Amino acid sequence: MPDNAQQKKPDSPWHEGELAIQRSLGVAERMDATGRNFVRSFMPEQHQQFFPMLPFAMFGAVDASGDVWATMRAAAPGFMQAPDAWNLDIRLPRDRDDPADAGMEDAHSIGMLGIQLETRRRNRLNGAIRRDADDGFTLRVRQSFGNCPQYIQLRQFAFVRDPHQPASVRPVHGRVLDARARAIIAKADTFFVASYVDRDSGERQVDVSHRGGKAGFVQIGEDGVLTIPDFSGNLFFNTLGNFMVNPRAGLLFVDFATGDMLQMTGSAEVILSSPEVAAFQGAERLWRFRPEKVIYREDGLPLRWAFEEGGWSPSLNSTVDCDQAKVRLEAAALADAWRPFRIARVEDESTTIRSLYLAPDDGVGLMAHQAGQHLPIRINVGDGERPLVRSYTLSSAPTDGLYRISVKKDGVASRHLHGLKPGDRIEARAPAGSFTIDGTERRPAVLIGAGVGITPILAMLKHIVAESRRKRRTRPTWVFQAARSPEERAFDREIADLVAEGEGNIRLVRALSQPATAIESQDYDIAGRIDLIHLKATLPFDDYDFYLCGPAAFTQSLYDGLRALNIADARIHAEAFGLSSLTRRPDGGSAPVMVPAANAPVHVVFAKSSKEARWQPGEGTLLDLAEARGLNPEYGCRNGSCGTCRTPVLEGRVTYPSQPSFPVGEGEALICCAVPAESETGKLHLSL
Ligand code: FES
Repeated sequence: MPDNAQQKKPDSPWHEGELAIQRSLGVAERMDATGRNFVRSFMPEQHQQFFPMLPFAMFGAVDASGDVWATMRAAAPGFMQAPDAWNLDIRLPRDRDDPADAGMEDAHSIGMLGIQLETRRRNRLNGAIRRDADDGFTLRVRQSFGNCPQYIQLRQFAFVRDPHQPASVRPVHGRVLDARARAIIAKADTFFVASYVDRDSGERQVDVSHRGGKAGFVQIGEDGVLTIPDFSGNLFFNTLGNFMVNPRAGLLFVDFATGDMLQMTGSAEVILSSPEVAAFQGAERLWRFRPEKVIYREDGLPLRWAFEEGGWSPSLNSTVDCDQAKVRLEAAALADAWRPFRIARVEDESTTIRSLYLAPDDGVGLMAHQAGQHLPIRINVGDGERPLVRSYTLSSAPTDGLYRISVKKDGVASRHLHGLKPGDRIEARAPAGSFTIDGTERRPAVLIGAGVGITPILAMLKHIVAESRRKRRTRPTWVFQAARSPEERAFDREIADLVAEGEGNIRLVRALSQPATAIESQDYDIAGRIDLIHLKATLPFDDYDFYLCGPAAFTQSLYDGLRALNIADARIHAEAFGLSSLTRRPDGGSAPVMVPAANAPVHVVFAKSSKEARWQPGEGTLLDLAEARGLNPEYGCRNGSCGTCRTPVLEGRVTYPSQPSFPVGEGEALICCAVPAESETGKLHLSL
């Protein structure tokens, strides 16, 4: 490191636009320290050695009218040399076909990106040009930093002509995307974007960066506006931060097989949240680009690249392309509808649990779900019988791109599901439920599943592992799985593979209540049921988030035990199955004040079916009352955790003898556990 750089305390490199996005995500403080240490005013030795190896580099430059352009320039390796830590000599002749060339005069600020597609290494620079000849210039470095290698596809390059020989075809200028431009964007898995801001110091800061995704990840609107998902990265937000201050953008798409270049300049808009963001799985934000000037340069580059077999970036496993995102938006529009699903596959997970893989049968895609959510399904169990509605937890992760429910044979509906074969049909509605996990959180997670309660736990574990591939950091996780016997325990292979992929960050503890001939340490770790004593003996002292799922008594006793240890209520996420829901003891010691139940008879009107009934104090729930009156409302869990029975309240109020775990919206009731609340009118109208 140069001496003077050692002595000077680095300034924060961030400008107001970058800070605005960092603040909106709550990472500004963390990024302040990172920026000061990571963004340097000189090239470390590694970078000085990196640039001379490259046969091409990307540049961002601003022309006299303020338009920013991204370009790629190629020459024999060695055309860039760093005589010291502050200067990069770049031997490149002028190229008047390149719109970026006009922004590369003496004293102009430019951005630069060196990238090795065959290794995914990349480094960024920006600074000002010193030029006294037409065959090259020196870049005086202002900012230098490495870049994360995510979303880069592996490619090997080869020159197809002398790099100084110009293209054989003249550039074509336009203002809109023609068919050729649309085609190059539609198949792109990579592009480059240039942006800039004029800083308070008077210096212009130009950045150029790489963007990668699955082929087709850039969506082209009918109006020619591009929508681009922004996947998680290094939290610098150079490009998006620049857009917040100055919405000018320059995009470069390269056809790696033909050497064609598509260069565009126009305006950009950042979208921090919208339903489209959720539809682009893996995207944290979106941005849109409206092209204003479009230049197509056929054979613009003397290089061609061959895609390496298996060269897709592993970070892309948890992202979708724009077609998949569109399908998800269509599916989201059908969230409240019962949709037909076909059984695509059936698989036994244990002697009692069978998985059904479900594929949509209406030509519309799957709606995105969160790990831990359940799927409301509707099935016809026999002629003349009314359809049954039940909810089953999805044992698949959001990134699996499929719905898989894993069902224990236990009751009419589940026996029916166990009898279904591939090709049979059921109906399902959008996944629901708030028993979900953030796979990227840093706090360690303890996942505890008993019996078929392992299904949401498995989905959560799969999600944690999928997020670790994307973020290259695994949330530390303990998994406790309780079962009666090895034969009844489900997902052994799948869980073992996930634990192995966690590389020591995921640990598994298996309990058998009836181990019989099973061998300790090989087939199980704990004989008996998982209880607080086992948790205390196994878990190192730390601050955990707990996720519990199992029979009601099991879940309640673990919850109560954890609360007795002063674990905050908010840290214990739980879902119980069976007829009783979990009774929570909120932080602060007292339960939330619930409106008292009516202490006088209430006249209940079921408005849609034009029926009425009288509810008497001490009677059952509104679902019981509706069924007694001959109605068949939909329900799943009957304990306030799935949300299937949500019903709009048209007049009057309801209350709950114990707080349901499903979040109830304003103006609606979970009738499976609601009763009429005290009111002056003595009336309750439900949209049933
Ligand atoms: S049926 Fe599940 S919340 Fe009412």
